[in-house]
Amino acid sequence: MLAPGERVIMVSGANRGIGLAVARRLGASGFRISLGARDLDRLASATVDLPDWRIARFAYDATDLGSAEAWVAGTLERFGRIDGLVNNAGIAKPDFTLEDADESVLDAMWLTNVKGPLRLTRLALPHLIACGHGRVVNVSSLSGKRVKNPNVGYAMTKHAVIALTHAIRRHGWDHGLRATAICPSFVRTDMTAGVDKVAATDMIQTEDLAQLVETALNLPDNAVVAEMLVNCRLEDLF
Ligand SMILES: NC(=O)c1ccc[n+]([C@@H]2O[C@H](COP(=O)([O-])OP(=O)(O)OC[C@H]3O[C@@H](n4cnc5c(N)ncnc54)[C@H](OP(=O)(O)O)[C@@H]3O)[C@@H](O)[C@H]2O)c1
Repeated sequence: MLAPGERVIMVSGANRGIGLAVARRLGASGFRISLGARDLDRLASATVDLPDWRIARFAYDATDLGSAEAWVAGTLERFGRIDGLVNNAGIAKPDFTLEDADESVLDAMWLTNVKGPLRLTRLALPHLIACGHGRVVNVSSLSGKRVKNPNVGYAMTKHAVIALTHAIRRHGWDHGLRATAICPSFVRTDMTAGVDKVAATDMIQTEDLAQLVETALNLPDNAVVAEMLVNCRLEDLF
């Protein structure tokens, strides 16, 4: 049974990296959290200290529509409502460049980074609307705002995530549904383990990004931020 005012937030890719930091932050801040991940063993051990009444764990693979359906249904069965969705799961590798003729790499990235969030949003939408103040936070990237490296596949998918965010805002505005695309530069996770342009200690730390995600979830309906652009180094325009 949820206490009045308690909110239920779904987080994808919650077993490591940004998703795990978001899950831990929201869990510590009093949210009920429904976590989706491919690697349930890793998710369980990474969140073992969170109390069972606060957390639910579900198998979620962005490439498998059935797992998205089961996760949304399981969340409703467990908590009875959905107040927010953090679309975090994503991949950046292997690179897909303008010269690559084999589009299977692009297709895989598209499926995980774009169709995954689109499907979860569609499935959660009636419940996000029903709660009256639904929130969607999509983890895009600064690669969704500008093109700064040869991996056009990743940039295309992250630009598309921003389009999705604005579509959610447009669709849900009159029902109190708000959406934010959070667009970080380098974040210190496995994804940036091979990056040498910025030292790991100078990258955005996952706990700090998680704080911004929580902020987006907590903003009032009439003072929201559609895009949060998060720098760890100087950018030309933002
Ligand atoms: N790190 C950065 O510099 C950075 C910057 C901007 C944006 N982002 C975005 O932030 C998000 C999280 O990235 P991260 O840095 O935390 O990367 P990460 O440490 O590599 O974690 C990626 C997460 O996504 C999950 N995932 C990948 N493919 C999946 C699939 N098919 N189904 C379900 N889950 C899947 C992974 O699950 P497994 O453990 O099962 O692989 C993992 O939980 C991504 O959308 C990424 O594009 C990252």
